[in-house]
Amino acid sequence: MTGRLDGQVAIVTGASSGNGRAIARRFAEEGAAITVADVREDPRLGGEPTHELIEENGGDAMFVETDVSSLEDLRNAVDETVERFGSLDVMVNNAGVERQLPVGEVTEEDYAWLMDINLKGVYFGSQVAIEAMRAQDAGGVIVNMSSIGGIRGLENSSLYCTSKGGVTNLTRQLAIEQGPHDIRVNALNPGFIETAMTMEDGETADGILEQTPLGRAGQPEEVAEAALFLASDESSFVTGHNLVMDGGFTA
Ligand SMILES: NC(=O)c1ccc[n+]([C@@H]2O[C@H](COP(=O)([O-])OP(=O)(O)OC[C@H]3O[C@@H](n4cnc5c(N)ncnc54)[C@H](O)[C@@H]3O)[C@@H](O)[C@H]2O)c1
Repeated sequence: MTGRLDGQVAIVTGASSGNGRAIARRFAEEGAAITVADVREDPRLGGEPTHELIEENGGDAMFVETDVSSLEDLRNAVDETVERFGSLDVMVNNAGVERQLPVGEVTEEDYAWLMDINLKGVYFGSQVAIEAMRAQDAGGVIVNMSSIGGIRGLENSSLYCTSKGGVTNLTRQLAIEQGPHDIRVNALNPGFIETAMTMEDGETADGILEQTPLGRAGQPEEVAEAALFLASDESSFVTGHNLVMDGGFTA
């Protein structure tokens, strides 16, 4: 059986849990070799580490301890990926965190922590991926994890929405810069998805679900299907796009 990502090599940051885990597993099902780049190996909601699960199902995967706020760690993840799997074709800059606070209560420490992971991590994750893809001269795909918070405000989420707004426009910018090198750059903008971020971190839905026409939260597996579309040749003429998948919340 041929897969939609046969022969491709992908790094998924934050792939130990939630959306990243679902993306890594779905890409592996379609034939991609996967590097799980995360600060922790164990899924936040429990279960087997993502790379072990993929290997048990016949896929190729490894875990590389990576803090996306460190350029050195990101570069190491790319180097280890190319060394083990031979190339880098798809970069999914998914790792992210949220800290809900009214703007007046945000400290410089809160700001630096969240921006370093959500925005600096995507920026330099893209930089190191582009460097590797350009060296291979075979094109590539970058999928950045933004949010509905990247295209509108959300209650008590000034930090998160600032970071995700940055990811939204960085995606457009990099698509323009890298198009001539056949590197496509797109973003996903999910609404409320059931992961540890929304279930365990005390994040409140702030009426999001009540205002969602489909009347429910999304699942990480649904995010993974959208990521697969952006990573595969099915979206070969799509770049610079922010793909909203929010059950109609922003409609
Ligand atoms: N859950 C939602 O409703 C929702 C909606 C829109 C966008 N998103 C985005 O999806 C992405 C994944 O979030 P999730 O909901 O799966 O959350 P999650 O907490 O379940 O998973 C996040 C993963 O990122 C990892 N991580 C955290 N800091 C890291 C760092 N510095 N370096 C490397 N890895 C790190 C965590 O260890 C974890 O495995 C985030 O960018 C988030 O903003 C989530």
